[in-house]
Amino acid sequence: MTAEDKKRLAAEAAVDYVKADSIIGVGTGSTVNHFIDLLARKMGRDIRAAVSSSEASSERMIAHGIKVVDLNQAGSLDLYVDGADESNSSLQLIKGGGGALTREKIVAAASREFICIADDSKLVDTLGSFPLPVEVIPMARELVVTELRELGGDPRLRDGFVSDNGNQILDVHGLQIDDALSLETRINQVAGVVCVGLFAHRPANLLILGTDQGIETLKAK
Ligand code: A5P
Repeated sequence: MTAEDKKRLAAEAAVDYVKADSIIGVGTGSTVNHFIDLLARKMGRDIRAAVSSSEASSERMIAHGIKVVDLNQAGSLDLYVDGADESNSSLQLIKGGGGALTREKIVAAASREFICIADDSKLVDTLGSFPLPVEVIPMARELVVTELRELGGDPRLRDGFVSDNGNQILDVHGLQIDDALSLETRINQVAGVVCVGLFAHRPANLLILGTDQGIETLKAK
């Protein structure tokens, strides 16, 4: 089975958790694209609306006729569905490979349940092989680079990329993240950091993996 097939499998399983007439949070990325397409096909008008984590997901949902509403209008959400770049067995995640980490973290924080969908290559023992994305205010970039080097990382500017919020992204290579909670807190304290793509304080509640054998579901401990 290809990675794309596995992503589709996980996305399909997540659609079963969506309640009719609800407003859900929707993440960003290739796995979520499958989720949006399947959601539209299976539930159509039964979905009241969605809060989106990116312009790309908004466009895709609107093209399917799914109404997209502002988080301030929607209030708290029952469910958020999103992908990840890496997950450990505590369902702490690295996210932001697609650059949508800040809005993803906001929508995840506003949601009671966070279901993460991925192919099984995303489950790792220790987070950090995937470079950790950090969204920064452009004028603070070099200041943040210095701080991240002090933490043992090798931050590299994502060339030519501007986030939906008008900011830049540093991808931090070379980290082995043994204590994701502390590292998230530490990076959040650096002046000029908008968001770090470490989801440890708000991990996923459920991880649905597509595997060669079908779906595997992991619950947060
Ligand atoms: C977007 O910024 C990311 O957080 C995505 O959720 C993550 O990169 C997973 O993307 P794929 O589903 O494309 O692997």
